[in-house]
Amino acid sequence: MTQPLTFAILSTGLESLKELRGALSAHEQTRLLVAGDDADQVYPEIVRLKPNVVVVALGAETEAGLRFVERAAAECPRTAIVCAARDSSPDLILRSLRAGAREFLRLPVRPDEFSTVLGRTAEYCAGQTEAPKKRGRAISVFSSKGGCGTSFIATNLAAATGAPTVLVDLNLQAGDLALFLGVEPKYSIADLVENRARVDDSLMKSYLAPHSANLSLLSAPREADLADDIEPEHVFEVIEILRERFEYVVIDPQHTFDSITLAALDQSDEIVLVLTLDIPAVRSTQRALQIFDRLGYPRHKVKIVVNRWSKQIELDIKQVERFLGERVVGYVQSDYNMAVNSINLGQPLVESEPASRIAGEIRQIAASVVGAVTPSTVTEPRRRVWQSIFGRSVGKVSNDGLHARIGKSNATAAI
Ligand SMILES: Nc1ncnc2c1ncn2[C@@H]1O[C@H](COP(=O)(O)OP(=O)(O)O)[C@@H](O)[C@H]1O
Ligand SMILES: [Mg+2]
Repeated sequence: MTQPLTFAILSTGLESLKELRGALSAHEQTRLLVAGDDADQVYPEIVRLKPNVVVVALGAETEAGLRFVERAAAECPRTAIVCAARDSSPDLILRSLRAGAREFLRLPVRPDEFSTVLGRTAEYCAGQTEAPKKRGRAISVFSSKGGCGTSFIATNLAAATGAPTVLVDLNLQAGDLALFLGVEPKYSIADLVENRARVDDSLMKSYLAPHSANLSLLSAPREADLADDIEPEHVFEVIEILRERFEYVVIDPQHTFDSITLAALDQSDEIVLVLTLDIPAVRSTQRALQIFDRLGYPRHKVKIVVNRWSKQIELDIKQVERFLGERVVGYVQSDYNMAVNSINLGQPLVESEPASRIAGEIRQIAASVVGAVTPSTVTEPRRRVWQSIFGRSVGKVSNDGLHARIGKSNATAAI
């Protein structure tokens, strides 16, 4: 270990205390944090300072010493406990180990034996370093224009990850994702926010509405006024807590750049920017991209997805890409009956109609967004062989015409 091994010593006999201190000081890679003969004083310090090793010298009050070992072993499972005693009878060694000690050191200290015990304890402690916190990926599915299908795509994307995923309904005033997933949540994000400081696994579980083995929902509050106390920093904290427990946190924010939405977008690793192929949606997507630029989001964080695509739509995707300055990473075709039926059933299409074309397209988007399987090529939907409206002249909208209708880049709304 490059870090020194930290110690606490509890010894009722002053002689043993002096002896153990001396032995420790002979080893450079050790640091004594606390030492004493009063268990009531030493114990809180152990809990506070979390030393790697606690040495308990068992003297006259063996029973009290063993109870101390039991308590420390139960409450500080990462700490290695070493019992030390002049009595090295098999009976005491056994009782020490049963109480929770990892090693037994005979007193008086024999330097060789002390080094061996120290080495073995250091080895144990090296394996006890805290596992790095898990940090799942946060993905916001966003559109600055309502009705483009962000909730539909967010729900299906969350169901298509194939890994533990939580879907977060950030439409705090009027969230409806519970209907999309066919669940009836008892609690909501408002409860999680209120109790965020004391949330543990079981409390977290109770706040989520399970949809399937891999997918749960953190719903929006049932009453809109419960959302009033939720601040952007709370959303930030909640997403952090969820990332520690799930591989993917899929967020469905509102269609505005309000502070709650910005908190989610800021924190997201990916933003799936959804648009439909109509002029207002293309324009609003362009504005959203400009706002993202101003917010300092790297462009690779944004993945553009076209929803409700149909070959009847006479807007050429290549021209839209050129206009937006971004590639479209996925297309979801328009199938109103299928989309509405799945929403009415409360089952994502990727589950209820896995063989459907929309389900395949969503899985492809999921693969490129979550990076599970990077599709070798993004299949652009086959277009009717028609001239794009950008290429047409008289009576149709030209490329310039599109620019004119959508508005030049400096037309972006200020935020
Ligand atoms: N690919 C699609 N094809 C047809 N209809 C769709 C598609 N995606 C979404 N819809 C429909 O569009 C409407 C709006 O979808 P929703 O996900 O609620 O949008 P948003 O959350 O962006 O406001 C819903 O009625 C839904 O059924
Ligand atoms: Mg929605």
